[in-house]
Amino acid sequence: MFKSCKRYFFLGVVFSLFAAFLDMINPKVVQYTVDCVLGTDGTLPDFVASLIEKTGGVSFLRSHLYLIALLVVVIALLAALFRYLYRMCNIFGTERLIKRLRDRLFDHIQRLPFSWYNANHTGDIIQRCTSDVETVRNFLSEQMTALFRIGLLIVMAMFFMIRIDGRLAFVSGVFIPVVILYSLFFHNRIGNAFQKADEEEGLLSAIAQENLTGVRVVRAFGREIYERERFEKQNDGYTRMWIRLMGWLSAFWCSNDFITGLQIMLVTVFGAVFCVHGELSVGAYIAFVSYNGMLAWPVRELGRVISDMSRVGVSVKRIRYILDSEPENAGDDKDSAPLSGDIVFDHVSFAYEKDTKVLEDVSFTLKQGQTLGILGGTGAGKSTLMYLLERLYELPEDCGRITIGGRDIRDIPLPVLRSHIGLVLQESFLFSRTLAENIAITQEGEPDMDAVKQAAGTADLTETIERFSDGYETFVGERGVTLSGGQKQSTAIAQLLVKNPPVMIFDDSLSAVDMETDARIRSALKERTADATMILISHRITTLMQADRILVLDHGHVAEIGSHEELLKKNGIYKHIYDIQVDQK
Ligand SMILES: Nc1ncnc2c1ncn2[C@@H]1O[C@H](COP(=O)(O)OP(=O)(O)OP(=O)(O)O)[C@@H](O)[C@H]1O
Ligand SMILES: [Mg+2]
Repeated sequence: MFKSCKRYFFLGVVFSLFAAFLDMINPKVVQYTVDCVLGTDGTLPDFVASLIEKTGGVSFLRSHLYLIALLVVVIALLAALFRYLYRMCNIFGTERLIKRLRDRLFDHIQRLPFSWYNANHTGDIIQRCTSDVETVRNFLSEQMTALFRIGLLIVMAMFFMIRIDGRLAFVSGVFIPVVILYSLFFHNRIGNAFQKADEEEGLLSAIAQENLTGVRVVRAFGREIYERERFEKQNDGYTRMWIRLMGWLSAFWCSNDFITGLQIMLVTVFGAVFCVHGELSVGAYIAFVSYNGMLAWPVRELGRVISDMSRVGVSVKRIRYILDSEPENAGDDKDSAPLSGDIVFDHVSFAYEKDTKVLEDVSFTLKQGQTLGILGGTGAGKSTLMYLLERLYELPEDCGRITIGGRDIRDIPLPVLRSHIGLVLQESFLFSRTLAENIAITQEGEPDMDAVKQAAGTADLTETIERFSDGYETFVGERGVTLSGGQKQSTAIAQLLVKNPPVMIFDDSLSAVDMETDARIRSALKERTADATMILISHRITTLMQADRILVLDHGHVAEIGSHEELLKKNGIYKHIYDIQVDQK
């Protein structure tokens, strides 16, 4: 990622080198003017002497001093131009790099497995992608090339200073390692504090994000005060941490400034003493003080850069955490052979967390074109079965096999598998876009309105949509808040119908619609998807009874499997639930 932007940073360093070099010339011009043009106690280097001769000699310059002033201005102007170019290169490099970093982060996050999202707070992830990326950006735009610039300035200034007076240069230079060592010591001490502050900020974002998402629950249960106090407590801790951190930083910056002040003072005093003793000309003294000024502030800045590096180090680590997380194994993208055939669960066992088995030895076969109904109590593992089939969670090697058309799904590339299977999740989620866009979410570009209308018809949505004044262009609020639970479920079903995959899974997708709508949607589905393999998960016997086979899941085990009639005859769990729900005589 850094490679493609390297040239901008390289050019930036080159321009800053020119600017720094030009900055070094002006004190020399002043020195020669004071010593050789105004006074007579200096010696000019040969090339300067011959240049002055060509322009008319020292006496000419003495009567045309404005020429020297003009030279100083031109040099300053050129230096400003190079500094501008340096800044622009830096901005180009930084912004491109940061854009790529953001794109890559987003792309990587998209490819991370479900389990990763379970283990990480959304607020914290967002904080890593915004605040931490911003810290890196500040470092790149302000400080990374500053390191080169400062290094360069120090070397150049030292060169000129040594040439003017070695002893004075020693007095000035002795402070450089002091500042660097002091900064490094501080850098090491403060790293952990930055890490903690960033983590605290992540937690704060997580609380805010969770509260915004769950605002209805908070209001419904009157939890505002509790949630506010929880936020304030976290915010208190975070604020205290920053005050402490900034306290240390201020102490560091002030002591660093003091060291710089000390250096300037010593150079001024020693230089003055050398001047009084006649060991240094006034012009050379002025030039030396100018160079020392040029050196002192970059050295002070160097201290800041080093201390801020601990902060950027922490941010880089937090961003790397995301980029280093293992994405889903998408498989060979050239393998796009279409899938067909039966779905087989072969002795499948699964646990989200070690030792807590959610599924145990589940086996069944679903023939192509058949409908399977799944019935089971709350938490029986029905959704988990479907997550495994879509590889939202990976089935470990020694936990059985799931095959489609005889192929282990672990060997089927994810895009192929997921285009083959469509899953209406138990909790529908809609984007804050129009209804048409939401229904056609699986299509690229403009929604195909014919397909959208057809799907809406099958999902029993047409009437509802026609009642909205904007029809299909009705804007759905965030997460679909402006729709009722049943309307959201119907929209999710319509989404799947637009996709029209060969295998369709409805995970409790009709639970929020009334019995009548449920029946209408099912009969429309049957007509429309006659060739599709279907899996219906539901707590309602009426939803499942027409399926070719019904699987009854009990605490992760297959308790019964068979057609409606077969299961009624078995007189087991299915019959019991049937009696409660349907045959309440
Ligand atoms: N991401 C997860 N991490 C850990 N445990 C989980 C996770 N998701 C589900 N579980 C657990 O797995 C078990 C089965 O959950 P699952 O969602 O498959 O049940 P279900 O049969 O679909 O239930 P329901 O009818 O309520 O939708 C539950 O005990 C649940 O607590
Ligand atoms: Mg479920």
